[in-house]
Amino acid sequence: MMSPFTVAIDGPAAAGKGTISKAVAAHFDLAHLDTGLLYRAVGARMLQGEDPIAAAQNLVAGDLENTDLRTAAVAQAASKVAVIPEVRAALLDFQRAFARRSGGAVLDGRDIGTVICPQAEVKLFVTASAEVRAQRRLAELVANGFDTDFDTVLSDVKTRDDRDMTRADAPLRPAEDAVVIDTSELDVQAAIAAAIEAVSARKAT
Ligand code: CDP
Repeated sequence: MMSPFTVAIDGPAAAGKGTISKAVAAHFDLAHLDTGLLYRAVGARMLQGEDPIAAAQNLVAGDLENTDLRTAAVAQAASKVAVIPEVRAALLDFQRAFARRSGGAVLDGRDIGTVICPQAEVKLFVTASAEVRAQRRLAELVANGFDTDFDTVLSDVKTRDDRDMTRADAPLRPAEDAVVIDTSELDVQAAIAAAIEAVSARKAT
């Protein structure tokens, strides 16, 4: 496949975008970029005392390998730096180039279908109730050895969603032509199947 083929997967915190994106990328043999990691890497550098705009402008591949990027503290920091227009601008070109690379790509984030790649061939908006998302994130954090509880995770998820939806620059919202997949009552396999079906439908047209 030589012409660009972009699958944009957006949605709120802990909706399962990562799992679905990896599975879609593997199924259709596309490259995958978790754009949340870029904001997490900038957030992590801010927590270490760096100016977030300078951090975004000087981000290097090694920053994405930082093993602490999945903590709740880094997630909150990511959503704070994500409000800053200069931070978003600094990360734009890399994401756009990745989206249109030959061979095709899956990008997951908050603004892929609306801002980064409005011409994406397929746009999915993956969501679930805040309670279901908090339960999934709690299980993930506990499995990775973090000591936390449901109420803390639910409140973190809601705070981050609110910040992501109300910011002026690239707020979280479904693109007009996005296929919405509500995974509240779907297990992992069913959510993956729904996403693969949506991509197949668009590929065939
Ligand atoms: O994995 P989870 O859904 O919890 O979060 P993430 O995708 O790693 O994103 C972390 C934070 O980065 C989000 O809460 C957003 O504030 C920000 N972000 C963004 O603004 N735009 C993107 N394309 C991706 C992430």
